[in-house]
Amino acid sequence: MTRKALIAANWKMNKSIQEAVSFIKDFKESVKKIRNKEIVICPPFTSLFEVNKLIKNTNIALGAQNIHFEEKGAFTGEISASMLRDAGCEYVILGHSERRNYFDETDEIINRKIQAALKNKLKVILCVGETLEQRESNETKAIIKFQLENCLRNVSNEEIKNIVIAYEPVWAIGTGKNATPEQAEEVHKFIRELLKKLYDEKISNEARILYGGSVNADNVKELMKMKNVDGALVGGASLDHKTFSEICNS
Ligand code: PGA
Repeated sequence: MTRKALIAANWKMNKSIQEAVSFIKDFKESVKKIRNKEIVICPPFTSLFEVNKLIKNTNIALGAQNIHFEEKGAFTGEISASMLRDAGCEYVILGHSERRNYFDETDEIINRKIQAALKNKLKVILCVGETLEQRESNETKAIIKFQLENCLRNVSNEEIKNIVIAYEPVWAIGTGKNATPEQAEEVHKFIRELLKKLYDEKISNEARILYGGSVNADNVKELMKMKNVDGALVGGASLDHKTFSEICNS
């Protein structure tokens, strides 16, 4: 079974439009030969439109970092899935631990957002992961199972094909302390087994599971060597075009 690797950049709340444009101009040159990996850039909303113009007919896809689950209406400050499609997005990151922690997003809300994304033909990068406290009290697998079962409620066998799962241990995000390749592999394998139970063997074999949390140009190779690690979701190290192209080219 060959799964196409996916490397995604999560810029979070960083970069002006001008900074985003200048990143893409350099970056697209340095990754243009890559064919065996999918590359996704997720800038803040304000840069989506300009970045989309620059990546047309390249091997780079566009993603956003959030949506609202409603289609339109009186939701001041929110952006819908169809608006993101309109701006050129192919992907959206959902369930990120920063959204869960700072904006009180529950699995139920994330599930509604997933439904809205899929309905609008946006692919989803669904993040799950345990806190340090949960890992230390041996709850990692129970937490991952709970998050996945609830986030994927009523997601059909057809729809799950448009979801990429990102395992992001909360203690590894932005801390410089990545999970070891073995720690990542153990959870990725567990996620794949769970997908087999929730869906079927073929779906589980084809599903892409990314690792995220302090990925950089030095540790990405070892992580990607693991059987069940199909790519990376990269925060801090994706902000510099040289570092991120090194990660994509590794
Ligand atoms: P990090 O962030 O690479 O800076 O740890 C990853 C993420 O939050 O997706």
